[in-house]
Amino acid sequence: MNDKLIKMKQKALEEHIPIIMDDTLEVIAKYLEENKTKKILEIGTAVGYSAICFSSYLEDGGKIDTIERDEERIAEAKQNIKEMELEDVIHIYEGDAVEILPTLNEKYDMVFIDAAKGKYPFFLKEALRLLNNGGIIFADNILYKGYVMSDYNKHKQRTAVRNLREYIKEVTENENLETEILEVGDGLAISKMKKILKKYNS
Ligand SMILES: C[S@@+](CC[C@H](N)C(=O)[O-])C[C@H]1O[C@@H](n2cnc3c(N)ncnc32)[C@H](O)[C@@H]1O
Repeated sequence: MNDKLIKMKQKALEEHIPIIMDDTLEVIAKYLEENKTKKILEIGTAVGYSAICFSSYLEDGGKIDTIERDEERIAEAKQNIKEMELEDVIHIYEGDAVEILPTLNEKYDMVFIDAAKGKYPFFLKEALRLLNNGGIIFADNILYKGYVMSDYNKHKQRTAVRNLREYIKEVTENENLETEILEVGDGLAISKMKKILKKYNS
């Protein structure tokens, strides 16, 4: 990891900005090393740390689109992306992902869901629409401090927990997906879209 990236990570941690945890990043980086990936969609940019990390694994000419609604974080992410000279690689959509996602029509090889937990089922629906055949969806924080797999039911987290459980149910029951859940970071759901062979009409 280069010095600029290390400083960026330290600053984010000092300012309590939630960024991808090292073990989660390791899992995704390994996937990217082993699978050619040209287009990534990220939901939840924060200050651009994960997008910048992912960018070093892209195929030549690859691109990352990332969505963030917090103005201060957008400004810092733009600065970080500029410092890393990645303006041609990483594009930030500024605004709420709930409004932006339905306007997108490109296809992506990988989607990284890392934003409001209460919106995960909606993000999944949009990710499936935008995912290439054979593509992959990573959803971070899926176990939410262990609440998702326990009978924890505090009011403040209840909606998030219910929606994370719904996400898990949908990805595990969807027969076009192969899903595993890893206990890295705060839980990572990995859902791979099975390759659907094209049928040729005779
Ligand atoms: C966990 S942080 C993202 C961290 C980043 N992916 C990284 O690892 O460096 C989540 C970010 O998602 C943003 N966010 C949450 N809900 C959102 C929404 N509905 N639309 C856009 N951004 C959202 C928050 O402002 C926050 O900066």
